Amino acid sequence: MQAAALLGAAEAARARAHAPYSGFRVGAALLCEDGSLQTGCSVENASYGATICAERVAVGAAIAAGRRRFQAIAIAGPAGVALSPCGICRQVLSEFSPDGALRVVMRAADGSAQEATLAALLPNAFGPADLAAAHPPG
Ligand code: THU
Repeated sequence: MQAAALLGAAEAARARAHAPYSGFRVGAALLCEDGSLQTGCSVENASYGATICAERVAVGAAIAAGRRRFQAIAIAGPAGVALSPCGICRQVLSEFSPDGALRVVMRAADGSAQEATLAALLPNAFGPADLAAAHPPG
């Protein structure tokens, strides 16, 4: 799927964001290995720390739908804002792209699509191998 089409799906999901506190609405579209699409939008909470980013909502929807392998994710924030995924979302994406090959499509301030690999956005990611390196655990 082309980056622009993926961004379009993220923009459509953005319209469903629940962002009454920041007003900063975000949408995400996750392209699964089988070509299907899962979307997510930011979901804020009056207890601000309980807010969930659009990317993690999309990942949760995909996992619940039985999809665990992904080709790409697109993220769309407010028009004119260049948005790249927050650190927590990079880590969550890394869980399902351990080699970092996931394509991350971001909308630049001018509306064009910018692309990077997850590995470029999150070098030296913490992962299961780090847990396994502890003998004994803890
Ligand atoms: N947000 C996302 O949904 N994804 C990101 O990658 C960055 C931030 C949302 C969370 C919150 O609702 C708002 O943007 C401001 O942080």
